[in-house]
Amino acid sequence: MLRETDIILAIESSCDDTAAAVLKGRKVLSNCIANQNLIHKAYGGIVPELASRAHQSKIIPVVSQALTEANIDKKELTAIAYTQGPGLLGSLLVGSSFGKSMAIALNLPLLPINHMQGHLLAHYIENENITPPVFPFLGVTLSGGHTQLILVKEYFEMELIGTTLDDAIGEAFDKCGKRMGLNYPAGHQIDKLAQDGDHLRFTFPITNLKKYDVSYSGVKTAFTNFIQKQKDPDFVTKHLNDLCASLQYTLIQIILNKIEKAAQDYGINQIVIGGGVAANSEIRKQLKNISKSKDWEVFLPSLSLTTDNAAMIGVAGYYKLQQNKYGSISDSAQARLKI
Ligand code: KG4
Ligand code: ZN
Repeated sequence: MLRETDIILAIESSCDDTAAAVLKGRKVLSNCIANQNLIHKAYGGIVPELASRAHQSKIIPVVSQALTEANIDKKELTAIAYTQGPGLLGSLLVGSSFGKSMAIALNLPLLPINHMQGHLLAHYIENENITPPVFPFLGVTLSGGHTQLILVKEYFEMELIGTTLDDAIGEAFDKCGKRMGLNYPAGHQIDKLAQDGDHLRFTFPITNLKKYDVSYSGVKTAFTNFIQKQKDPDFVTKHLNDLCASLQYTLIQIILNKIEKAAQDYGINQIVIGGGVAANSEIRKQLKNISKSKDWEVFLPSLSLTTDNAAMIGVAGYYKLQQNKYGSISDSAQARLKI
């Protein structure tokens, strides 16, 4: 039964963003986020202990802000959705404990959500200009922690057909960015710098594993070695744009090859992208070009829905609520929750 009047509070705290959203049905009433980039910048990556402490101090203000912006009183809520995993355990525990406490206090049902499913289901958020994908489709999650090819048969029926054997694509962007002296997270900066660079100036290995798995650690090592062996101490500064463009081209090509293979093998022509790296302007451009030449329909999230957010957790919660797939207070946060 469709319940467009249900009001869901969603909480996302799987990594380094404390986020809360309020949805009425599939419509987003508020979508608030407190990111921790400044906290982790000095360390060149996320420090899990600092992340959980920052979540603890941010969770109440962010949830309050989401309710205020939505103009919703907590007594009007129908259910509480929260990210159960995957992610950093300490971070997940903050959001899940807070969600559970609120659900007990308000006597509301709980909706535990898989973060990666949330990235894909973000495409079902109400948007009058966009028709959501139709099942089955090929889901592709590209983030700092995951690189996955997923056969999506139904809202919560997803089969992982390919994944990274080592680093995730976003991790490769961030780690190679660090080698060039860029701040964490480096993906967005590499994207910008690459726009004025020549992607054919330097060549790095485009790994091609069997089936649909990918590997990014080889490119990372090749990139690091290449920079280290340069005699000119100013090499990176002098060639920053070309290095970014060549690296980005390589990282993107690896996953594009697999997307094309999976779409062809499974006879699927709807490709649904999710995750922070989906903000990358080059991968967006390339996917749009491929979609024209292959007659695919490519679904790219709006930029505000690419990186981690709670609206995607809320819309996934909406479908769980519709299907009466409730969680319970004994569900535990799971760092390695599978798709
Ligand atoms: O999905 P997300 O917000 O968090 C995780 O669940 O990991 O993804 C974060 C990742 C980071 O690695 C960041 O560098 C990357 O997304 N990213 C980008 C861009 N914007 C964010 N990578 C490439 N190009 C971008 N424009
Ligand atoms: Zn994510």
